[in-house]
Amino acid sequence: MEQAPSSYFNFQRVRRRRPAGFLNMKHLISLFDLNPSELVEILDRAAALKKLFQQGERPQLLPGRVLAQLFEKPSLRTRNSFEAAIVNLGGSGIFMTTAEAGLNGRESLSDVARVLSSFSDLITMRTFSHSLISEFAKYSQCPVINGLSDERHPCQAMTDLLTIRETLGCLKDQHLVFVGDGNNVAMSLAIASAMTGMKMTLAVPKGYEFSPQFVSLLSNAYPDHQTAIMHDPGKAVSSATVVYTDVWASMGQEDDAERRKKAFAEFQVNDRLMKRAPAEALFMHDLPAKRGLEVTDDVIDGSQSVVFQQAENRMHLARGLFAWLLGK
Ligand code: CP
Ligand code: NVA
Repeated sequence: MEQAPSSYFNFQRVRRRRPAGFLNMKHLISLFDLNPSELVEILDRAAALKKLFQQGERPQLLPGRVLAQLFEKPSLRTRNSFEAAIVNLGGSGIFMTTAEAGLNGRESLSDVARVLSSFSDLITMRTFSHSLISEFAKYSQCPVINGLSDERHPCQAMTDLLTIRETLGCLKDQHLVFVGDGNNVAMSLAIASAMTGMKMTLAVPKGYEFSPQFVSLLSNAYPDHQTAIMHDPGKAVSSATVVYTDVWASMGQEDDAERRKKAFAEFQVNDRLMKRAPAEALFMHDLPAKRGLEVTDDVIDGSQSVVFQQAENRMHLARGLFAWLLGK
């Protein structure tokens, strides 16, 4: 279990050697590893690089740098946006499953981390267990970035901030209503909201709310956070500036999918629910979506939806993050 941060500045510094020029040597396992100004710096860097990209410019900020990716679960957006990002910055990526890397018992986690990080500049990981990434990071000589664990999805949440900011103009005082499971994406969005002065409401069936441990971590780090839990989705979205949803059964919960389908039946984001929200509210989804379950086609393909802008922004956010982490 993640330790409660004692302050905004309780990030996990990379303790090992790095060549000169690495200004921000830290891991990004959870958004609790950043303070709010660092988060804004990353968003600004990503926005600036996006603007250049749209003008046809791809500054080669990280020539020769190597990104190693270790994934335990499938991924379209995260894996490929990370790889596109490092290539567009002048570096290159190598990919392996965690099993191929030897994390299936072939050798110890600490040895894998020491070896792989000795010839990589950045490591991204997608695992079931959140503690595996945290443990790996303890032994890594280079920054480790969480590309989704059961408890967090920080790069998704940062991307969502970027998308909200560029679409609605600012973050402060937005009201993000997450309709669905209190899962990894919802928890990261709650931290992201607390860090940026957004209000967040989780509209959730009873039994699927945030854990008390998570709420206590959030309250310790951000005592003024404005996170609410509601069980009536119609009421929750009535003051939303963003309506957000995600799958009802996350990767690893497939055996529970039928039970969840019943539990979340009243929490589908459909035209009826969107009509309860202000007409200018955005619709967001991290994807992949189960169309016809948590969201209907008319909403995800409708005029309020920014889901493909979100997906594209994964790459821009990754470029900003990699450049920031490596001090460029
Ligand atoms: N949103 C997201 O993380 O998508 P992938 O699972 O395809 O990486
Ligand atoms: N909550 C989902 C997010 C997928 C990007 C999952 O963990 O499967």
